[in-house]
Amino acid sequence: MNKEQLEEEVKKFEWMHSIDLENGIITPGKWPRNPHIEKAFDKINFEEKKVLDIGTCNGLWSFEAEKRGASEVYSIDYLIHDNYWCTPAYRFAHDTLQSKAIYNPDVDVYDIEKLGITDFDVIIFCGVYYHLKNPLLALSKIRKILKTGGHVIIEGPIINDDSKPIAGFLYKEIENKDNYFGSWHRSNWWVPSGRCLREWVECSLFDIIDEFSGTDPSYLNSNWYKLKSFIKKILNKEKPHIKRTVLLAKGVKRADKNYSSKQADSDLIDFFL
Ligand SMILES: C[S@@+](CC[C@H](N)C(=O)[O-])C[C@H]1O[C@@H](n2cnc3c(N)ncnc32)[C@H](O)[C@@H]1O
Repeated sequence: MNKEQLEEEVKKFEWMHSIDLENGIITPGKWPRNPHIEKAFDKINFEEKKVLDIGTCNGLWSFEAEKRGASEVYSIDYLIHDNYWCTPAYRFAHDTLQSKAIYNPDVDVYDIEKLGITDFDVIIFCGVYYHLKNPLLALSKIRKILKTGGHVIIEGPIINDDSKPIAGFLYKEIENKDNYFGSWHRSNWWVPSGRCLREWVECSLFDIIDEFSGTDPSYLNSNWYKLKSFIKKILNKEKPHIKRTVLLAKGVKRADKNYSSKQADSDLIDFFL
């Protein structure tokens, strides 16, 4: 396919991710590329690493890991109830990039053990925890299949108030016109404070080694962000107390001075000293 033909093909798909197809074509993703996730990527050496990308959507972060030298990449999603809406674009990018990533759009994060693969070096868990009714269960499942010392990147929205370990539950609040948490899609369940998210992660036997948050200037300047802010302003739905954050953490084995292993869920029992 020449460049013009490829450009025509790209238009046939619905793109959430802006993926560099490596021939001067970047897919027209609706979501701006989060530079904070890239900052977390920059802290990891992906060479020859085994990587799992949970909730891969169009595969942006899987392909990025591969570009950075990962030797095995598994891209999973859970789309059976969502009509596999991200899948055609994923497959197109995968074929165009001649990616070797292994794709499975039928893996619920709660069932990642069914993949039959453990000892991942890196797990990417971006844009997912707030879509889950049980984010803590997901974190335990992730810890279970991550190497001790392996990295996890966790990204999502937080309440911009570090003073309390609280989490907002959106089940009914989402219907509230004055929803404190802003306008959300039905698929959202939780928005924790930064402190709460960090504690969720820590109690799941990870040590946080870095955090990247705040609105990056390149994001502020993106057309998507400008349009979103404009619409929110008109609808009076601007919520300055919500921001997105990225945590970079390592899987650890340790004693927990607050809770004994007996009080932990069974997925974590092997990681308590
Ligand atoms: C907001 S998108 C994030 C996409 C991508 N990870 C990113 O950061 O740009 C949320 C993704 O999580 C997936 N997802 C939602 N619930 C899931 C579950 N229970 N197990 C696995 N993936 C899930 C969705 O299908 C979707 O691909």
